Amino acid sequence: MAEELIITNSQDREERYELLLPQIESLVTDETDLIANLSNIVAALKQAMNYFWVGVYMVKDNQLVLGPFQGPIACTRINFGKGVCGTSWKDGKTILVPDVDEFPGHIACSSASKSEIVLPAFKDGSVALVLDVDSDKLDDFGDVDRHALEKVMRIIERKL
Ligand code: SME
Repeated sequence: MAEELIITNSQDREERYELLLPQIESLVTDETDLIANLSNIVAALKQAMNYFWVGVYMVKDNQLVLGPFQGPIACTRINFGKGVCGTSWKDGKTILVPDVDEFPGHIACSSASKSEIVLPAFKDGSVALVLDVDSDKLDDFGDVDRHALEKVMRIIERKL
């Protein structure tokens, strides 16, 4: 495992993801513990991409329960179909929210959060967890984030 994350000075997100993804892959290669792997993945995402908040919610006893995250404290439990995370779980789909105030039922863990992207990871055909990334800027996520973060979800799935 690399001792330090290599981060480019480039402000181009695509370039930052391109450099980051192989490092995320190698961070988890030799480790089997899920919490250890998720912890390093969200830390690497936060460090390289400087998101406002990044973390996972894990499906446990028919709720989403807060898992490893980086950023301000957050709500600990989310019900099926509730908020952006619960909707991503229910639909099994990535959800991009350009303006959280426009998303019916959005759960505001922090009033500073303005836009977000939530992506599911599957185990045996069911959603096992979701990755939630929040920004303090409106409309901060697009296809570049979706494609790169979907690759992160496939890395996570191999460790589930
Ligand atoms: N906004 C999310 C809740 C999680 S926090 O943003 C960290 C939602 O609506 O599901």
